[in-house]
Amino acid sequence: MITRIADASDPDSVREAARILRGGGLVAFPTETVYGLGADALNPLAVARIFEVKGRPRLDPLIVHVADAEDAARYGTFSERARALTRRFWPGPLTLVVPKTPRVPDIVTAGLETVAIRVPSHPAARALIRAAGRPVAAPSANPFGYVSPTEASHVAAQLGGRIDLILDGGASSVGVESTILSLAGPVPALLRAGGITLEDLSAVLGPVEIATDPGARPQAPGQLRRHYATRTPLEIAEAGAPSPAAGEKAGLLSLRPEDVRGYVAVEVLSPTGDMREAAARFFGALRRLDGMALDRIVARPFPETGLGRALMDRLRRAAAR
Ligand code: TXA
Ligand code: MG
Repeated sequence: MITRIADASDPDSVREAARILRGGGLVAFPTETVYGLGADALNPLAVARIFEVKGRPRLDPLIVHVADAEDAARYGTFSERARALTRRFWPGPLTLVVPKTPRVPDIVTAGLETVAIRVPSHPAARALIRAAGRPVAAPSANPFGYVSPTEASHVAAQLGGRIDLILDGGASSVGVESTILSLAGPVPALLRAGGITLEDLSAVLGPVEIATDPGARPQAPGQLRRHYATRTPLEIAEAGAPSPAAGEKAGLLSLRPEDVRGYVAVEVLSPTGDMREAAARFFGALRRLDGMALDRIVARPFPETGLGRALMDRLRRAAAR
């Protein structure tokens, strides 16, 4: 199979992508968080191919992407509290876990009685969902466990030849995955830190239980202890840790510029320490370092507030062995 890359801003490309989805094929498409690998969520055979292509365990449920809140109500049951959140944060990087309706096939939810749903804000993602006329099940478009893709070229490098089409909509503006909030229990529970901060959620909800601890819920694999991982060993070390040994090929990932020596490559995520800029550049920088045949990647910890919480979460899982 030859994977074509098509310009997501061309309406003909979006129409073709929608035809592929309706025919049971797989299309990688841009979202504001990361690129997704989409299939018609109502077609169990098409959804099964997502698991095959990613090498993803079947017990890891998928997020259903829909065009708007009205569409979402066909697949999930939204309480008043859930609707307050969707009014405030959709379209955008918030995924809600709510009770599912019978329309959602079991393979999408891995047999759970809940479904994860979001409305992406990227115009090409919305145009694709509308043109397909179907909900789109989509995980991040990378092999299971590896660094997430934030550009069409990242998808092509890893899934090229195995999927039907990649819609190229430029670099993802948020750069980390959506925040996942479960409304299935009595207290709202944060299952994955992401593009909408805990501070933003708490402003609407009051207290939120933080359930992102790896091992707390091994059935939600964004919570697997090891995930988002480079092939190169990665460790987290504060500034001031010893420099690389002579002859060692080490790369450094840091938020701001630092006066360091001995590293063969340094990726600075934001010269001014801007966390939005840092998040947008994070996975791309990790990929570049991982492509340099280094012995080791050293990453500086991020401040754990706002988007820094999502970035530290990704780093810890990438560092887990
Ligand atoms: O930003 C994003 O969310 C991206 C883009 C493409 O939308 N998608 C994404 O999908 O990150 P994925 O499959 O890489 O991560 C989805 C996470 C998984 O950790 C999965 O376990 C969790 O969502 N999840 C899905 N359905 C769930 C459910 N019913 N209950 C709990 N967790 C669920
Ligand atoms: Mg993923």
